[in-house]
Amino acid sequence: MKLIVCENYEEMSEKAAEIIKEQVVKKPDSVLGFATGSTPVGTYDKLAEMYKKGELDMSGVTSFNLDEYYPISNDSDQSYHCFMERQLFGRVNITKDKINMLSGEAEDPSEECERYEERIEEAGGIDLQILGIGRNGHIGFNEPDTDLEAKTHLTELSSDTIEANSRFFENVDLVPTHALTMGISTIFKSKKIILLANGRSKLNAVRELFSEHITTKSPATMLKLHSDVTIICDYEAYSEASIGIDIGGMSVKIGVVENLKIIDKRIIDVTSGMTEKDLIAAITSVCAEMRKRYKANRIGIGVPGIIDENGVTSANLPFKDCKLDEIMSRALGVTVKIENDANCAALGEQAAGAGKGMRNVLMVTLGTGIGGGIIIDGKIYSGKGNAGEIGHMRIMPDGKLCKCGKHGCWERYASVSALIEMMERAAAEHPDSILADAAKDSINGKTLFKAMDMGCDTAKHVFDEYIGYLAAGIDILVSVLDPELILIAGGISRENEKIIKPLSERIGGAVPIKVAELKSDAGIIGAALL
Ligand code: PGA
Repeated sequence: MKLIVCENYEEMSEKAAEIIKEQVVKKPDSVLGFATGSTPVGTYDKLAEMYKKGELDMSGVTSFNLDEYYPISNDSDQSYHCFMERQLFGRVNITKDKINMLSGEAEDPSEECERYEERIEEAGGIDLQILGIGRNGHIGFNEPDTDLEAKTHLTELSSDTIEANSRFFENVDLVPTHALTMGISTIFKSKKIILLANGRSKLNAVRELFSEHITTKSPATMLKLHSDVTIICDYEAYSEASIGIDIGGMSVKIGVVENLKIIDKRIIDVTSGMTEKDLIAAITSVCAEMRKRYKANRIGIGVPGIIDENGVTSANLPFKDCKLDEIMSRALGVTVKIENDANCAALGEQAAGAGKGMRNVLMVTLGTGIGGGIIIDGKIYSGKGNAGEIGHMRIMPDGKLCKCGKHGCWERYASVSALIEMMERAAAEHPDSILADAAKDSINGKTLFKAMDMGCDTAKHVFDEYIGYLAAGIDILVSVLDPELILIAGGISRENEKIIKPLSERIGGAVPIKVAELKSDAGIIGAALL
C-alpha cells in the first residue's frame, strides 16, 4: 500500500482529484468507482473546478457507485443518487447513460445486485475505485463481521454506521437500516484503489490498515492484499502525536508521543542563571519545531510544585505564579495542559508502563521526599488541584519536624533521605558494624542493601524499621483509595524484590505492589496524555 499523508483535508482532496484527473487523461474512457459520505466531497469539488476551468473532460467516463441505502427513493434528498448529483454528476460532464448506481427502489434487491455485478463486468471492470473508510473500518457498506460477502449484496448497517450517518438525517430513526453495497471482491477487482481518510474519528480505522493483521472485523484491512492501493489521509487520521513535557529541577525533557511511545526526545538543561522567561522561551522553541515536524496538536506539561489559580510556583525552578500553560498556548496556538509532575508520571505508568490494563493505580515515588500520583478510573485525581501530596500525611502526631512546617510527615520517615538519616544514626551507634564500615566513604540507599547482603544485623534492623514506616503510610493510602495496584518509583525501587517482597508482607498482601517501569519516560508520556 502506498501512503500519502497530507497537511489537511484540502490537500488530501487535491491529491485525490489529481490522481483521478491523471487516470482520465491517460484513459478518457476510464471506468471510475465513486464513493459517497463527507470524505470525498472536497475531491468532487476539485474535479468540478478542474472541469469548469477546462482542465478535465469526463465525457468518456463510465461510473459505478459503491453503495446505496435500501430501501430509499432515488430522489430522496438523503439517497446517494441525489448526493452524487449534487456533489459531482451535476457539476461535470459525465453522460447520464454512463452513470451506474445501485437502486434503492429495486423490487428484488438480489436481482439488482446481480445485474450490477454484470454491468461492471460488461464495462470491463473498474479502473480506479475511490473509497472512504468508516470509523469502524468498513469500506462501501461492508460492515465488520465474522465473515464478509464477496459480491454486491444487500446488507444490514451496523449501529455504529447508523449513528455516524444520522448527521445526514433529521434523526437517527430515519436512517435506513439496510443498504446495497459492492462486496469485497467487487471492490478488489478494481485495478487501482485510492482510499481517503480524514479527521480524528478515522484514526483507529487507519491504524488497523497499517497493523500486521487482516481481519473481517475491520474490512478495510483486506486491502492489504490488493496490489495497487494508495491511502491518502490527513494528519488527524494518521497521527495522534502529542508533546509531553516533563519539567525537572535539572532538566526539561520534551518528547513526541505516539501510540504511547516516545518517538523523539529533546533535553534542555536548566542552568542556574535561567530566568522564567529564558526557560519558557527555550521550551517553546523546541515545542514549535516538534509541533511542525510531527503535526502534534496537543501539549501537556508536568511540573513540580504548586499549581493553583495563580499559576505554577516551583521551589527549584524560576517559576513564581507563572501561567505557563497560558503563555505557551498563546505562543504555540494550541491548548496546553498542565499537571503536577508526579501525577503525570503515574498516568504514564498506568497507561503505558507497569500499570497497563489497571484503572486505579497509586504511584509512590521515594526520593528526597515522597511524591504521589493517584489515578482513579484511568484519570489523574488532583482534588482541588494538589491531591497526591502523600509525603505530607502525618503518620506521627508529634514526630520529626518536616520542612513544610508540620511534624511527623510520612516523608520524614519513609523517604530515601529519611532512610539515610536512620543509617547514619545506626552507624554512629554501632561503629563496629558492617554498615558503619560501608558508610565510611559515602552513604546512599545502596549502602544499606550492600551491608545487609554481607550479613549486617544493624543494617537489617534499620531496614525493618524503614519498611515498617513505609508500610504504615501505604496502609493508610490503601484504606482511603483501595487501588488495584501500587507502583513504587524512585532510585531505591531498583532494589526491586528486596523492597517489594517485605513491603507486600507488611501490608498483608492487600494490594499488588510493583516497581514502576518507565523511569524518566513516564512523566513525558503522562504529560502527553493530558
Ligand atoms: P464519511 O463516511 O466520509 O462520511 O466519514 C465514510 C464511509 O463511511 O465510508
